[in-house]
Amino acid sequence: MKILMVCLGNICRSPLADGLLKSKVESLGLNVVVDSAGTSGHHSGESPDPRMRATAKHHGLSIDHLRARQFVTSDFDEFDLIYAMDSSNFNNILKLARNDEDRSKVMMILNEITPGLNKAVPDPYYGGDQGFEEVYKMLDEATDIIINTRLK
Ligand code: 4NP
Repeated sequence: MKILMVCLGNICRSPLADGLLKSKVESLGLNVVVDSAGTSGHHSGESPDPRMRATAKHHGLSIDHLRARQFVTSDFDEFDLIYAMDSSNFNNILKLARNDEDRSKVMMILNEITPGLNKAVPDPYYGGDQGFEEVYKMLDEATDIIINTRLK
């Protein structure tokens, strides 16, 4: 099983989702590959945002080693499940889909918590520190559900 987390810049939300899921997968000894990407290549090669790294570290998780990259069409071949953080990311991923199989791999991540509601993980980039903590709580819950319902 291979899972890709996708946001806009791949420096705030998706690296945290990536780090959280990877850490849970590793502690359970599951055979799952986890990665993340951004629909924009604007921050490619950068480390996660210092505010997201600090929030992760506050919870005992390091995402310092991750580097941003842009989502590419071949990610549809590489990954079984592709999680979008918001509907803009979702639509931008779907624009690159080549067929129904590609489209069937893409999900809004918060639909794991509230199925069918298409809720967004809010983009914390332009807000205060509280936004990063809120994102942490949402993604911690969503990745727990992914582990329990899809990977066990
Ligand atoms: P992310 O947050 O999509 O969660 O990585 C953002 C990062 C950068 C920008 C927007 C959102 N930006 O406009 O540069």
